[in-house]
Amino acid sequence: MTDLNLTELTPFIGAEVHDVNLGAPMSDETFTAVKRAVAERSVLLFRDQDLTPQSHIDFSSRFGALEKHVLQDFCLDGHPEIFVVSNIMENGKHIGAFGGSKEYHSDLAYISEPSKGSVFRCLECPDGEGETEFVSLFAAHDALPAEKRAWLAEQSAVYDYVWDYSRRQTQRPPLSDEQIHNTPPVTHPCVRSHPETGRKTLFLSPIWIRNFEGMSEEDSAPILKELTDFATGPDFSYRHSWRAGDVLIWDNRSTLHKACPFDEENSRRLMHRTTITGEQTVR
Ligand code: SIN
Repeated sequence: MTDLNLTELTPFIGAEVHDVNLGAPMSDETFTAVKRAVAERSVLLFRDQDLTPQSHIDFSSRFGALEKHVLQDFCLDGHPEIFVVSNIMENGKHIGAFGGSKEYHSDLAYISEPSKGSVFRCLECPDGEGETEFVSLFAAHDALPAEKRAWLAEQSAVYDYVWDYSRRQTQRPPLSDEQIHNTPPVTHPCVRSHPETGRKTLFLSPIWIRNFEGMSEEDSAPILKELTDFATGPDFSYRHSWRAGDVLIWDNRSTLHKACPFDEENSRRLMHRTTITGEQTVR
């Protein structure tokens, strides 16, 4: 089995991988080791990567098919697998998703088979701002009081993208009828087994959760807030400061992430994300 040259970023989440060029041909053994490290460490950092949109797609595709995001206007021209996250405007138009990812979430948790993971590439980021913060849902799960953990193991949450979009994305154009049709509410267990390691993890992506199954929105809201506050506290987190050329792979099944604020009026931040299709959520 190939061993990667890794440095852990915190005791429970994240590792930097050295001596791997994601843009060059990679052996199956090395790729298997990368995949295993993502499943175990949840976030992997590769510095100084010189990728093109196509080599970004080619590497990401080794994990599985790639999603084409529901917001196709924010995907890269000619490369619909690349979702652009940016505040930059060209010809009076935003070139990417802006202002929407500053609350904790797991990418595409609102679809029936939520994404396995994302490969995020930094092209431009202002110094000392615009970091991405992650939390380990493995660590949060393990630290829950036993009674709450047992209760959550039996619960499911209802995710409703259209409901959330209409309350939060007031600066973006409204969803089309087709986008609404393509994103109906879905239900996922609040604790799931990681498909590759079997380890139990909390699975809660708070912004899209409308209610716990069988419970009203009003009754669900304070429970969701308490759980979110617990899981996203500093104890389980890693904050990544970006340099151009950084690539992060994160596991959407065992983490939440959010973008940290930056001066959107005067600075430029440009990131490319590929999002790997997932599987059904299993308790
Ligand atoms: C994302 O939510 O996928 C992007 C996070 C970021 O912009 O840092």
